[in-house]
Amino acid sequence: MRHLMSPLDFSVEELDKLLDLANDIEKYPDKYAHVCDGKRIATLFYEPSTRTRLSFEAAMMNLGGKVLGFSSASSSSAAKGESVADTIRMASCYADIAAIRHPKEGAPLVASMVSSIPVINAGDGGHQHPTQTLTDLLTIRSLKGRLDHLVIGLCGDLKFGRTVHSLIEALSRYAGVYFVLISPEELRVPSYITEGMRQDNIPYKEVERLEDAIPELDLLYMTRVQKERFFNEEDYVRMKDFYILDKVKMELAGPDMLVLHPLPRVNEIAVEVDSDPRAVYFKQVQYGVYVRMALILTLLELEV
Ligand code: CP
Repeated sequence: MRHLMSPLDFSVEELDKLLDLANDIEKYPDKYAHVCDGKRIATLFYEPSTRTRLSFEAAMMNLGGKVLGFSSASSSSAAKGESVADTIRMASCYADIAAIRHPKEGAPLVASMVSSIPVINAGDGGHQHPTQTLTDLLTIRSLKGRLDHLVIGLCGDLKFGRTVHSLIEALSRYAGVYFVLISPEELRVPSYITEGMRQDNIPYKEVERLEDAIPELDLLYMTRVQKERFFNEEDYVRMKDFYILDKVKMELAGPDMLVLHPLPRVNEIAVEVDSDPRAVYFKQVQYGVYVRMALILTLLELEV
């Protein structure tokens, strides 16, 4: 039985296969409409979510399966003190696979160690968000045609943004990828990640001004400042509007530069950018459903 805790749990070859399957699902959805008849997914969300929870539920329903779960810790027996380990033991009796989001880093891993069903990390604190990364990889590969030889700008809260941490790990395995890490000093990528990049000879630079970086990018991955991870409101307020991507900045970008964002967006992308054909963050959401369908099939070892 396999779980998914980090994008590195899949080899590059396995990832390619998963993304191929997602593209096939996109093309021929009817072929997959009953593969999960009689199966259930438990979505155990101890933290707020719109996309991840709903896309897992939509993915299972598109495959013919059913969904159950909770959307906040306060509406589950976690509020009475039940542990994550005991909760997954319960879910193992009710469902065939589970997706867990938790504010504590490593909580889905703890669940996977006692679970008798596959567990998917749907975001753990500021650590990892592997299914967002699968979504990002599918979006990039589908729209750019490749995952290698790309100049990738990651902009915003690179300290607490778990989607950024997972995406760097995943894309570092492809040849010719160059990272431009765009953040204020206080929100830089954690040093354990940049140290790993240096050890593995992954080329990157850290800059503060988006305007200076944008002309050289193939892809700009915007992120929001993660309010929920700040220790005090004052620091958040000081940082929250540090970057705002607007039409003027988009004029500095190349004609093929794509703008991605894991969403939710707050202020960091002006609404006026939404109509720019290079803005693909809403298409990205749709790719998230296809790739989660492919992931469910892969972890449940179901074939068409
Ligand atoms: N991208 C993402 O994780 O969004 P949600 O927090 O709405 O699930």
